[in-house]
Amino acid sequence: MNILLLGSGGRECALAWKIKQSPKTDKLYIAPGNAGTAAIGTNVAIPATDFDAIGKFAVEKHIDMVVVGPEDPLVKGIYDYFVSCEELKNIPVIGPSKEGARLEGSKEFAKGFMMRHNIPTARYESFTQENLEAGYTFLETLKAPYVLKADGLAAGKGVLIINDLQEAKDELKQMLNGMFGNASKTVVIEEFLSGIECSVFVLTDGKDYRILPVAKDYKRIGEGDTGLNTGGMGAVSPVPFADTTFMKKVEERIVKPTIEGLKKENITYKGFIFLGLINVQGEPMVIEYNVRMGDPETEVVMLRIQSDLVDLLEGVAQGTLREKELTEDPRAAVTVMLVSGGYPGSYEKGKEITGLDLVTDSIPFHAGTTFKNGKIVTSGGRVIALSSYGATKEEALANSFKSAKAVSFEGKYFRSDIGADL
Ligand code: AMP
Ligand code: GLY
Repeated sequence: MNILLLGSGGRECALAWKIKQSPKTDKLYIAPGNAGTAAIGTNVAIPATDFDAIGKFAVEKHIDMVVVGPEDPLVKGIYDYFVSCEELKNIPVIGPSKEGARLEGSKEFAKGFMMRHNIPTARYESFTQENLEAGYTFLETLKAPYVLKADGLAAGKGVLIINDLQEAKDELKQMLNGMFGNASKTVVIEEFLSGIECSVFVLTDGKDYRILPVAKDYKRIGEGDTGLNTGGMGAVSPVPFADTTFMKKVEERIVKPTIEGLKKENITYKGFIFLGLINVQGEPMVIEYNVRMGDPETEVVMLRIQSDLVDLLEGVAQGTLREKELTEDPRAAVTVMLVSGGYPGSYEKGKEITGLDLVTDSIPFHAGTTFKNGKIVTSGGRVIALSSYGATKEEALANSFKSAKAVSFEGKYFRSDIGADL
């Protein structure tokens, strides 16, 4: 098969690495990709949201499957674009329809969906400028901290957690006044849930599903999970508290009703579902849905899938997932993200990266890298995800930290406490 993978981050580098291993893969193209994906397949200079250019390329190169990494093209309707075009409709796109992508694209839609299908999640109400006063009243019924979420996509920055009631009211007003542009024209206010989070990934063909290895990511910049939120500083898999008992609850109370709910509402969904879960005293609750794989979770989940991913994706495309096996690698996998100094605030780009050739015990997945004058340089906040296997999490971490020291670029920073809380 000729496969076109869309995206340019660490997630896509890990997906490319796994897809390339399949005997079913002939040509692998990544649009637009990065310096890491260039060593795995062929990069194509097309943005992941330029549907016309992607469609034209897919026809020209006889693409047999399009795998979508990030949410943007999905929320903008790439699935529907392919289905509605005569030349493209027979090329399967791995990802939900535009309607299905609303599970990530609209928090209000996602909450409503969970209510309709009895899926455990925090109590909530949603507000617009027209009922701002009602928003204040609802906040008064809740206990601190207060959780305010912009309805739409806000580059991972649309959630505010605030301790003070008056401050929460002020922020609500600001959000509805366009603090996050159109994304916060509607704001979901919800009850704060206390617990430890994990990420569960489900692959579905719309009828059947397979649950992928569970992972936990580390979102904040500082050690001990302090400081500003980032795109993710590291991840581990498996997650000890996500044991058989917990996962049975996840499957019965969340995964099955989600798949059934999509079917009942006639929503076409053939792709990955990312359940952001929180463990509230042993009970799983949904914090959010995403309609793609997580980053940096993918950089550990791909290591822990023993089965042929392309075979599974073919099952999704053809509606035969029921016949496909998903086996997990029994080893632990971790990833440690090297980031640019200053991230998630402002940082410099274009710093030369050296020492990648010294990495022997990890797989370096490129996140924000590019080529400049024949050299590999930084091009983003998150630069390289160093993923490793180990018989235990500790062994895997030792490998990643060793590699983290071997790779150099000006301003390099990483968290040395990934996985320490588990
Ligand atoms: P989201 O974009 O919905 O994933 O929210 C970002 C982060 O905010 C989550 O990963 C949680 O750490 C936190 N969060 C969101 N909703 C809640 C909630 N209801 N209770 C506690 N923490 C939350
Ligand atoms: N690691 C969280 C995310 O990908 O949204």
